[in-house]
Amino acid sequence: FEVNWSIEDAEKGGYRHFMLKEIEEQPKALKDTMTSRLLEDQDQVILDQIKLGKKELQNINRIFIVACGTAYHAGLVGKYAIERFARIPVETEVASEFRYKKPIVDEHSLVIVVSQSGETADTLAALRLAKEKGARILAITNVIGSTVSREADNVLYTWAGPEIAVASTKAYTTQLICMYMLALHIALELGTISVEFFREIRDALKQTPQMVEEILKHKHDIQKFADHNFNTNSVFFLGRGLDYYTAMEGSLKLKEISYIHSEAYAAGELKHGTIALIEKGTLIIALATQQELYEKLLSNMKEVKARGAHVVAIAQEGHEEVKKVADEVFYIPRINDHVTPVTIIPILQLIAYYIAVARGTDVDKPRNLAKSVTVE
Ligand code: G6P
Repeated sequence: FEVNWSIEDAEKGGYRHFMLKEIEEQPKALKDTMTSRLLEDQDQVILDQIKLGKKELQNINRIFIVACGTAYHAGLVGKYAIERFARIPVETEVASEFRYKKPIVDEHSLVIVVSQSGETADTLAALRLAKEKGARILAITNVIGSTVSREADNVLYTWAGPEIAVASTKAYTTQLICMYMLALHIALELGTISVEFFREIRDALKQTPQMVEEILKHKHDIQKFADHNFNTNSVFFLGRGLDYYTAMEGSLKLKEISYIHSEAYAAGELKHGTIALIEKGTLIIALATQQELYEKLLSNMKEVKARGAHVVAIAQEGHEEVKKVADEVFYIPRINDHVTPVTIIPILQLIAYYIAVARGTDVDKPRNLAKSVTVE
């Protein structure tokens, strides 16, 4: 009798890489993160023990979201959600910038730090600086007992479970859920949204686990796409509004594990310089899930197609016109536009994953990267 598997193999549960396992764990992670906080029949968010009611919120006149890497991208969606739902201006900054810019932070500031590991040096330094200036610190983290969780005034945990692959996947989508829950909570307290609107978003969030599951069922289509495109040497991700933030995260995933040069661009800004890089065969991944920006995205796709780009679009089901413009389309099931970042990103994670596999890189431990950067 011979044991020919390692402990690591056992932990991978039959998957070739932790990253794919973690991508597929997202429906459960999303569900776990919402379970005790968003109840089907309640018109409120139950934010664990966090005391952030009307009184506390009225004392706050600035909100900062500070983070690094993928967590920063979750912070951008957080800014969108808080501003759109609660109508409070929010600044989202990368921690290494925030800490050295003499930020205007005081006891009337709420500083939300986002960190999967809770140990990132720059994020921790930003937290300490803000705390010293008297700000209230709310942490969104995945690791119980991490330094960030111990030093923050309040913690909202992502219930993603351990994330082993360096490229973050399920931590990101659960951070998004936390951001939405927080934004809804603040908006309800301040009376900036109606109960009907709250229910719409709550129900949409509750639908995300099942939708992500649906999307993951089609992973072989994405694998096929990757097998045809892994040889490319540059990819542009385009989007507007929320889709732009998702584009940034999709582009980061691709760079991290496939080592292909990639950029995320606000689709309307492309014409101000970067379009010069588009030539015959350039691969463009265009995100067009936002109803109010859909037409705009179609014309941006036409602009790059006219210069010979190969355009792959991601749109919500039912949007047929995009097929006429793009060379290929991946559809996501219809969902409220405000929460699409949760349901599009699994497609981009899988694109990055299968391209990296096709290129033969070390997917779970990409070169030059660490899971948690604890030195500056
Ligand atoms: C490292 C990882 C990234 C991660 C970033 C922030 O650079 O490689 O995947 O997004 O740190 O990590 P944190 O644990 O603070 O979320």
